[in-house]
Order: sequence, then C-alpha cells, then structure tokens
Amino acid sequence: MKRNKYIIGNWKMNGTAASIKIVNFIANHLKKRKQTSPKIIICPPFTLLSNFNQFKDKISYGGQDCHYAKEGAYTGSISALMLKSLGCKYVIIGHSERREFQNENSKELSLKIKAALENNLNVIYCIGEKLSEIKKRKIILKNQINSLPDKFDIKKIIIAYEPVWAIGTGKIPFLNEIDDILKSIRKLLEKKIGVSKSETISILYGGSVKPSNADEILNLKQVDGALVGGSSLVAKDFCKIIDSSKQ
Ligand code: PGA
Repeated sequence: MKRNKYIIGNWKMNGTAASIKIVNFIANHLKKRKQTSPKIIICPPFTLLSNFNQFKDKISYGGQDCHYAKEGAYTGSISALMLKSLGCKYVIIGHSERREFQNENSKELSLKIKAALENNLNVIYCIGEKLSEIKKRKIILKNQINSLPDKFDIKKIIIAYEPVWAIGTGKIPFLNEIDDILKSIRKLLEKKIGVSKSETISILYGGSVKPSNADEILNLKQVDGALVGGSSLVAKDFCKIIDSSKQ
C-alpha cells in the first residue's frame, strides 16, 4: 500500500517576521526538486501564518493547535475556522508539549479533532509515551488513539508518533523499535476503523530527527515521514531531511 509521505516542520514558539527567510530558502530548494513527494508542511506560530500563503505552491502550512469552539470568550485561543480562513490546510493536535503544559486531556483533544475535521482541516495527531510510561506504552498509545472519532475521513488524519523522551533530547528509539511501534499503532487503527482504512493512514515518526539520522529513520519500512522540531528551524538541515525521505 503506497501511502502519502510527509515532512512536517513544527516551529513551536520560535520565529519572528525575519524567519520568513527560512521558508524562502526551503521553497527555493523545493523548486529545484522534480519530485512532488514527500509533501512539505510547516506549522509556524500563529503570528506568522499570514506570511505563508505566498509559498503555498510548494509548502502547505498549518497551526500548532486549535480551540474546539468556533468562536467565543476564549482569550488567546485560535479556532479551526480561523486557521482555515488564513489558508491553513493542516493543524497539529495533541502535541506532547500541549498535553503537558496546557493540560490537554483526551476529552478536549477529541473535541479539537472534531472541530478541525468539521472545518475541513487535515489533522496531524501526535501520540507518544513519556519516559516513565515506556513499560505501559501499548496502553498509552491505545488510549491516545481512542481520542480519534469512531468514524472519520481517513484522508484527513495523519498520525505522528513522538516518544516524549525523544523530543529535543537527541535520543531516538532503536530503529527496529520505531518500526515495531509504528506497526503496533497501525494495529490499533485497524481495530478502530478496519484493516483497509487503516492501511491508508500515514504514520510519521517525530523526536530528534536531524540530517544525521534522517536517512535511516525515513527509510524504515513503516515510517511515512517525519515531524521535525528543532531541525525545521535551520533551513539547510530541513532541506537535507527532505532529501533523505523516500518518495
Ligand atoms: P524535535 O521536536 O525534532 O526538536 O525533537 C519534535 C517535535 O516536538 O515535534
């Protein structure tokens, strides 16, 4: 089964107006490439989203979060509708930093996913265990997968497996472990939505992906791409990661 491949940059709370030069560099690099796969997506802070439309032929863009409500008295929050109105096609939901620092729980995440899908956004849904949870990883991942609705448009969901202990630490799981975990995630999806549907969902790896390890990670059988934090802010590094991806 040939699934879509993605390289997604998550800028987190980094970047000012001057950071658009990073996107410019990446867009120029992509112009030189003939291949249209992997798909390239960048999720900058909300403040920069309006600058991304000019690159939309080469780079899709999205939010790092959205509120579950359409509008209302939620100071500081951004709705899925607002993202859509800025030309976003994607939104990251359930990143471990939001689960931890904004106390996002599975109930809230289900509502956010629902709101994003209702507004026709593609959801990059992040799951992954903390270091202290490694022994009960299967249960953690199962519970996180269960935040997905029972029925959804399979074309609109991308799963990013990010072990929390690998994010920003320079540590990654053993390569065979990544393949095994992604396989077990697909099994969980199978149980939820059936074999044929689950086969078409792209599952990415995230956590300390860098130019030096991108080749071996991205060419693993089960890996359909990467969610990249730190290295997505260094234009040359991000381009090297893109070039390491299988088609
Ligand atoms: P990292 O972050 O690449 O800096 O480890 C990944 C992420 O948090 O999505």
